[in-house]
Amino acid sequence: MPALSVWFVRTALFYLLLGFTFGGLLLSNKGVPYAPALWRLRSLHIEILMVGWFIQFAMGVAFWIFPRWWHEPRRGDERGAYLAYGLLNLGIWAVALPLLFDWSGVFVTIGRVVEAAAALAFATHIWPRTVGREG
Ligand code: HEM
Repeated sequence: MPALSVWFVRTALFYLLLGFTFGGLLLSNKGVPYAPALWRLRSLHIEILMVGWFIQFAMGVAFWIFPRWWHEPRRGDERGAYLAYGLLNLGIWAVALPLLFDWSGVFVTIGRVVEAAAALAFATHIWPRTVGREG
């Protein structure tokens, strides 16, 4: 597995742990309401598991297993994938913090734009590798 995939997958596993922890807190608080403020974690729970875990894991595995070239560099231009890793993780917190602290929706929108930029950066890397076996 290439180093970047290791980073993607390890970071994704970190978010899985964090997201499940938040989920557990939310669930216990639903059963026995001991801290109403915990409900704020609901948006974070969703953001962290859908983007931090799912999307991040998919990108890490895709970077690893998509078809490679016979010549160097085997994975083509990797810069888009590295950029995607940085932007995705920046975007997650740019969305999560305003949600947690109830900042203006403008901040959440900025975070979403950063996440969209991560998707675009990853697409520029993976598009040329989206080929059939004979490609
Ligand atoms: C990959 C795993 C998971 C994903 C993708 C996920 C995603 C979500 C999503 C999208 C919602 C919002 C649902 C809605 O509004 O209808 C939600 C709510 C919630 N999740 Fe999770 N979740 C996951 C795992 C867990 C786990 C392991 C727990 C508990 C241990 C948990 C506890 C909760 C609770 C308590 C809510 C709030 C339910 C409510 O609105 O009444 N989740 N989750």
